[in-house]
Amino acid sequence: MGRERKHGRIVFVWIIMAIVMVVISGCGASQALNMSTVVGGEKHSDGNVVKEGQGPQTGSGAGDKEDAVIIGKNGNEDGDIVHLDLEGKPSKDKPDNVIVGELDKPDQQAEEQPGKTDKLIALTFDDGPDKRYTTDILDILKDKGVKATFFVVGQQVAKNPEVLQRIVDEGHAIGNHTYNHKDLSKLTKQQIIEEVKTGDAVIKKAVGFTPIMFRAPYGAVSDTLKDLLKANNRELVGWNIDTRDWAGTSASDIRKMIKKEAKPNGIILMHSFGGKHIKNTVQALPGVIDDLEEMGYTFVFADQCA
Ligand code: NI
Repeated sequence: MGRERKHGRIVFVWIIMAIVMVVISGCGASQALNMSTVVGGEKHSDGNVVKEGQGPQTGSGAGDKEDAVIIGKNGNEDGDIVHLDLEGKPSKDKPDNVIVGELDKPDQQAEEQPGKTDKLIALTFDDGPDKRYTTDILDILKDKGVKATFFVVGQQVAKNPEVLQRIVDEGHAIGNHTYNHKDLSKLTKQQIIEEVKTGDAVIKKAVGFTPIMFRAPYGAVSDTLKDLLKANNRELVGWNIDTRDWAGTSASDIRKMIKKEAKPNGIILMHSFGGKHIKNTVQALPGVIDDLEEMGYTFVFADQCA
């Protein structure tokens, strides 16, 4: 106890002396820094050099930049020089390009500007790509100047990587729709991870990035899948307008149905692969786009309606 009190008293006396010195020296800490510099330089002239950038740009209270820098360069780890070094170090010394995290994040795609209307709607095409219907759909979208979202299956991407590249090149968004199009609600967590990861890998191989969006085959979503996607910054995207095009809905019925069910933030489910009925989707598409534009809808990517 007594020892501590004595120690405290000595520290207090030193503080008073330091204040008095600063006041007496007139030009303040700048002068004091100069003195320290000389002492430090002589004392540690054995080549103890602190790395550049570690030295202070401006000492506490010092007006002279150069003095402070000299201290930093000559100082070593003992004495008051290190103390000045720490106190004088401005936060601006830190680099701007700080690397945050090391996870393999999905690559954000540029978002389409929704414009003035808030009547947003998204066309989505699942299960491709292929060289028959997907390319027809791309031709129509290009002709109409409309952007859509394609949820692609890994197996199809492996067979048609150039079609996926075309989808991306023409400004559409893509999402992972697993590798094998299995019902994920019936799989173990490890199997789900495998389905998503292999889908990611083949997409990345084809177009060089990992999409944010994910859509579960058959819309079969489990808590395990939800948690997995959330933990990996993926966006699970469903739909709220189902054309059932894969089941043989005629082209005119697809068009009528969409016109009737269209709503703000609607996500329309169609397919670009999956059997002969997809020809109806292709046939209906120009009219569907015309109807929706007439109704004042703006086409956006699916995650903008989710
Ligand atoms: Ni599907």
